[in-house]
Amino acid sequence: KDALDYLANKAGKRYLGTAIQSYQLVNNPQYVQILESQFDAITPENEMKWEVVEPTEGNFDFSGTDKIVAEAKKTGSIVRGHNICWDSQTPAWVTSITDPKRLKEVLKNHIDAVIGRYKDDLAYFDIVNEPLNENGTYKSNVWYNVLGESYIETALRYAHEVAPNMKLCINDYNIETVNAKSKAMAVLSAKLLAKNAPLHCIGFESHFIGGSTPKDIPASMRQFSDLGLEVPMTELDVRIPVTANDQPANATVAKAQVDDYYTSISACLGNDMCPGVSIWQFADPTSWIPGVFKGYGAALLYDAEYQPKSTYYVVQQAL
Ligand code: XIL
Repeated sequence: KDALDYLANKAGKRYLGTAIQSYQLVNNPQYVQILESQFDAITPENEMKWEVVEPTEGNFDFSGTDKIVAEAKKTGSIVRGHNICWDSQTPAWVTSITDPKRLKEVLKNHIDAVIGRYKDDLAYFDIVNEPLNENGTYKSNVWYNVLGESYIETALRYAHEVAPNMKLCINDYNIETVNAKSKAMAVLSAKLLAKNAPLHCIGFESHFIGGSTPKDIPASMRQFSDLGLEVPMTELDVRIPVTANDQPANATVAKAQVDDYYTSISACLGNDMCPGVSIWQFADPTSWIPGVFKGYGAALLYDAEYQPKSTYYVVQQAL
C-alpha cells in the first residue's frame, strides 16, 4: 500500500511510470519485481525508436515493443509510445531523403505500421520529439529541413488517422521553466490547436540537475494546460555529481536532489492536466546519465543493489 503507483492513483488518478529496457524483462527478476510492484506506466527507452523499429525500409522489428506491451497487459499498466520524428536515432536511409513527397510517404508507412500495430495498446505517443532549439527556433532535422514546420501537423494527422483514441504529444526538454523555448512551444501548440490538429499533450522531459531544477515548473505547465493540453512529465531524472562508484559526491548535492524530486512530483500533482510522472529508468545501474553526462549519476530511485534510496522515499512522501 506504499507502492508508488498506488500512492499516485490515490493522489488524484495519476500514473507513476518508468522507462524500461525490454531485455531486462527476460533476465533480471529483481528489475521485473520492482517494475510490477511500483509502476503502472511504461515507456520503451529505445525499443520504438526508428533505428530499432525500421532499421531498413519496410523491415520492421517489433520484438522489443511486443515484450513491453505484453508485460504492461499482464499488470494493467499503460504504455507511452516513444517516438516518431526526431533528429536522433533515425537511420541514414531516412535522414538522407531529400524529396518531400517521398519523405511523407516514408513517414506515413512507418506510422501506419508502428502505430497501427499498437493502436489499442498505447495510451500516449510522443509523436514529435525535441523539435525546438534553446532559442525557440526549429531544430535542424530531416523532417524540418525537407518538409518545413508542417511536418509536425502532418505527423500528428497521420497518427490520429490510424489511432483516433491515442493521445498524441510533442515532447521536449528545457521547457520546464518559462523561457524562450517553452514560450515558442506554447506558440506552436496554439497554432496547431487553431488548425484543429490532433495534439493532446506536451511532454515535459524533466532531465534535471540536483540544485538547479526550475522553481517555476507550475507556471510553465500552465502555458499548456491553459490551452487544454495535458502536461505529463515524461523522462524525469535528477543527476548529481558522483564519486567513481556512482555515489553522491557530497551531502549538499544529495540533499538538493531529494528536494528536487519533491519539487518535481509536486508540480505534477498541482496541475489537473498532468496525468502522471514517468522516470527515465528507476535504478541507477540502467540509467543513461553516467554514459552521457561525465561525472554525473545516481539520478534515480534505486541503487546498484536495487534497494530504494532517499530519492524513492521522498517521491513516496510527495505523493
Ligand atoms: C536516450 C536513452 O536513454 C539512451 O539509452 C539512448 O542511448 C539515447 O536516448 N531524450 C529522449 C530520450 O527523448 O529518448 C533519450 O533516451 C534521452 C533524452
